[in-house]
Amino acid sequence: MSKEEFRRFGHELIDWVAEYLEHVEDLPVLAQIEPGDLKAQLPVAPPETGEPMEQIIADVDRLIVPALTHWNHPSFFAYFATSTSAPGIFGELLSAAFDNKAMLWRTSPASTELEEVTLDWLRQMMGLDAGMTGIIYDTASVSSMHAIAAAREGVELRIREEGMSGRKDLPLLRVYVSEQSHSSIEKGVITLGLGQRGLRKIPTDSEFRMDSKALGAAIAEDKQNGIVPFCVVATVGTTSTSSIDPVAEIIPICERYMMWLHVDAAYAGSAAVVPELRYILKGCERADSLAVNPHKWLFTPFDLSVLYCRHLNLLRRAFSLVPEYLRTPEQEQVRSGSDYGVQLGRRFRALKLWMIIRYFGHEGLAARIREHCRLAKLFAAWIEGDPNWELMAPVPLGLVCFRACPAIDWIDDDVRNARLDVLNEAIMHGVNATGKALLSHTKLNGKLTLRLSIGNIRTTEKHVRQVWDLLNEQLKLLGRQS
Ligand SMILES: Cc1ncc(COP(=O)(O)O)c(C=O)c1O
Repeated sequence: MSKEEFRRFGHELIDWVAEYLEHVEDLPVLAQIEPGDLKAQLPVAPPETGEPMEQIIADVDRLIVPALTHWNHPSFFAYFATSTSAPGIFGELLSAAFDNKAMLWRTSPASTELEEVTLDWLRQMMGLDAGMTGIIYDTASVSSMHAIAAAREGVELRIREEGMSGRKDLPLLRVYVSEQSHSSIEKGVITLGLGQRGLRKIPTDSEFRMDSKALGAAIAEDKQNGIVPFCVVATVGTTSTSSIDPVAEIIPICERYMMWLHVDAAYAGSAAVVPELRYILKGCERADSLAVNPHKWLFTPFDLSVLYCRHLNLLRRAFSLVPEYLRTPEQEQVRSGSDYGVQLGRRFRALKLWMIIRYFGHEGLAARIREHCRLAKLFAAWIEGDPNWELMAPVPLGLVCFRACPAIDWIDDDVRNARLDVLNEAIMHGVNATGKALLSHTKLNGKLTLRLSIGNIRTTEKHVRQVWDLLNEQLKLLGRQS
């Protein structure tokens, strides 16, 4: 592509993105298509010859946009609401232009060194101690899997060298999580060959936090049975309710049994940049590692997850492998990303986070997260003030768990709950079908629960009021029918 053409299409696309972000609110949040609709409109074979850029861009409008679910829509309240931001988009643009593969320090000194500095900034903003060193991965699933791998390396059972299969000398190794932990931890355990038997789920208390007494008892019992407990994964900000495991109670247990404590703070970790919310990381000053996702609540385009780790030497021991063709004269002086994980080449992800932190500043990031938490509390207050609705979990941050509970003459509790499940699911689908807002759900104590997550940089009180109105409209409509 000539420089002139590149400029023309580049300007056109930046204009396109500016309009898209300005008017994303006018688009349906949830893609209004049926499975297979997009595929049916695409040629099955690749073009034999190149096509004009105009046509390709036109097809983005015609085919791709209608098949998008718009995470940038300010009324996206599902899962954990996230959004990109202008400096983040510029960071992605530049990193695509540089196309560096940060496998070794010398293949991208900028990426390697900027990552170290930017992650140290984030560490300071979150109030983590200087013993925690950060490394970037794509997702929290991968960050946590690497933490568990480092923990396993610390057990000194020569698993790196001899593997786990066919070994009679190897006891069952076990990782502990709460019943509310994210499925990614179980997947990590499976990936590392520890098997689902290698994971024990600990019950939670009435506020969905890991029961630390039950944890201690489970570990003691397993040890008596010859199992080797080696890692606890606590969650700060669970996926269903954003509950915060009592890390300060869990840490002495880990220390007593010499176990690794990893903290999955994928969602909530970002909230620690707000000084008055730092308490959520209480106890983490003694954790061995912690994962946080700037792509969740720090306005960073997907993907960018950070693993903070106190024992980078173990992570390196688990993963470093330097064949002759990767040997460099400076390798003992520098950090090379490929030594700390399964990937060789790594994207230049630090650039976007560096630009975001510089553009918003610590204060700007904290102010936005603080506002999201205020909006969540406001919505929770509306729920609490209306007998037709009930809160299903505490609201420590930006997530509200709730359900409709209209007073109708039900036969008994089981029937009532079953009817309420159906009603709430219908309310959620009804709201989502309007295209004006998107909610998701979970189950808490066997009850279908709606989740409203506020984390999008463009969400204001107006959008929260709108979804409240939509919910009440649906309740009126469906409550009458049920
Ligand atoms: C607590 C928690 N951990 C881990 C994950 C997985 O995140 P990722 O998509 O970055 O792997 C999520 C996703 O929502 C989460 O809520």
